[in-house]
Amino acid sequence: MPQTRPIPTDQPEDDAPGSDPAGGATITPYRDGPLIVRGQFRLVDQDGAEIDPGRETVALCRCGKSGIKPFCDGTHKRAGFSAPSAPSRPRPAARILRAGRPEEVR
Ligand code: FES
Repeated sequence: MPQTRPIPTDQPEDDAPGSDPAGGATITPYRDGPLIVRGQFRLVDQDGAEIDPGRETVALCRCGKSGIKPFCDGTHKRAGFSAPSAPSRPRPAARILRAGRPEEVR
């Protein structure tokens, strides 16, 4: 019987910390890498057409260099893509919403 081996990848395991136990989706920007989407989600193009992710956890490219966009193919490593996992500063709208004054957004 032929043996199957996992394809080497830098993507996290499906049961990695960060999975949403409430049944929603969790999107995790990985340092110097893709956006990992776990949980219940639908992936659609801008016209609303369904994109089959082919698996329950997907890596979406955020470096712009993947040959299989919107999915990550690992090219970010060769391209030297660099980005933090967390934002270095909050977006202005996030600060306003946290302050509880969304009506002030114009
Ligand atoms: S983030 Fe991996 S190829 Fe772009």
